[in-house]
Amino acid sequence: MSTANIDVETILRGKYPAKAHAKRVVEYIRSKIPDATGVLYLEGRSDRLLEDSDEPIPFRQRRAFMYLTGVDVADCFLVYDIASARSTLFIPPVDPDSVIWSGLPLSPEEALAKYDVDAVLPSTELNPTLVRLGAAPNSTVFAIADRVSDAVTFLEFNNKDFTVLGEAIDECRVIKDEYEISLIRKASQISGAAHKAVLEGVREAKNEYELEGIFLGSCARQGAKKQAYPSIVASGRAAATLHYVHNDKELAGKDLLLLDAGAEWNCYAADITRTFPISGRFTEESRAVYEIVLQMQTDCIAMLKEGVSWDEVHVQAHRVAIDGLLSLGVLKGNRNEILAARTSAAFLPHGLGHYLGLDTHDTGGHPNYSDPDPIFRYLRVRLNLPAGSVITVEPGLYFCEFIIRPYLNDPKHSKYIDEKVLDKYWDVGGVRIEDNLLITKDGSINLTDAIKDPDELERIILGS
Ligand code: GLY
Ligand code: MN
Ligand code: MN
Repeated sequence: MSTANIDVETILRGKYPAKAHAKRVVEYIRSKIPDATGVLYLEGRSDRLLEDSDEPIPFRQRRAFMYLTGVDVADCFLVYDIASARSTLFIPPVDPDSVIWSGLPLSPEEALAKYDVDAVLPSTELNPTLVRLGAAPNSTVFAIADRVSDAVTFLEFNNKDFTVLGEAIDECRVIKDEYEISLIRKASQISGAAHKAVLEGVREAKNEYELEGIFLGSCARQGAKKQAYPSIVASGRAAATLHYVHNDKELAGKDLLLLDAGAEWNCYAADITRTFPISGRFTEESRAVYEIVLQMQTDCIAMLKEGVSWDEVHVQAHRVAIDGLLSLGVLKGNRNEILAARTSAAFLPHGLGHYLGLDTHDTGGHPNYSDPDPIFRYLRVRLNLPAGSVITVEPGLYFCEFIIRPYLNDPKHSKYIDEKVLDKYWDVGGVRIEDNLLITKDGSINLTDAIKDPDELERIILGS
């Protein structure tokens, strides 16, 4: 299966399917509370100013609100009446004083045409609407704790539930519909082109920040002005810091560049990592490590299909890592014993991947950050993967002295590590390769088409 079956541009000409999401959320709530009736209430993010400044904090819509409205505008509210399946969006009214500064806000007519909602009212109508709906017999308002403004009144409702709505939205978000998949694919297409622009610019660049600039510029020129997360542009040993964000080191004398960067499209994320040689030629050591990580990713992707245990896919990444490091001589001994000792966590200290969607680290994965087993502690998804979920597959191998030194000092692990051989690899820093995969009934579709073949990477960097 390939992305050719996803007609992104045609699908995205339609509306974001907010009401279908609301129906699924109500189904989830009714699976927990069979006779649930009343309203779903959600507040969007309000516009806020930076501390000691009259400049706005960059706006980021609340994901729960986005999921049930598709509205990426500040200071909006949603009321969804369960019995009639009718949604009403409340938008800011015209404030005459701010028009000269900010222009006219979205009008109710424009909002109705643009979004999948049944009615649009000014937010001055919010409380009267809640009072009317709350007066119905036995009505419950379902809202999210700490996401209700003081000015909003739920007084008329018999019951208030601040628990199940957030949970329902988090769980429903796991399975993406066609529209959401198209949004992620679009973010991925833009990011893939931006990754290529960085490859083409790396030989001319002198500092990590120039590459960050190329990536951000390429995304913005394609219409993606927001990033899904801060770019990680890490040269040499900096790549061993997983969420390195300084992006300000000189490139001279370094072997690899790890670029973990992804754009956002209508609030949906791409999350893509590529690692490549700054000079256009891998060294023997960096090529060897790259090949192992690529094999880890290929083998893990081959396991993907509906129902696969993500724990098992993650363990497979460790197995391939152990085999690869044994072949290099960095590890020595029996592969099963090394896996049982968890020594490979010295080189692969993070989880294989996470759900992707409205958030880069999307909801519904049920991680267990207090798992005593070090190889599972940072695994953000601990479930069998359903068809329709989108997950990152991002194996890596890192040579981080701070992480590895305690293993070298612990006889339980040091007997499996050849320190002399390891010494040849510190300058490789880290290699990660990260793609975004849609799980299907029989397999998966890779939504990422950024270049990762090592020969092709070299060719593009060298411009040959
Ligand atoms: N970019 C963050 C991550 O890969 O999880
Ligand atoms: Mn990721
Ligand atoms: Mn990433």
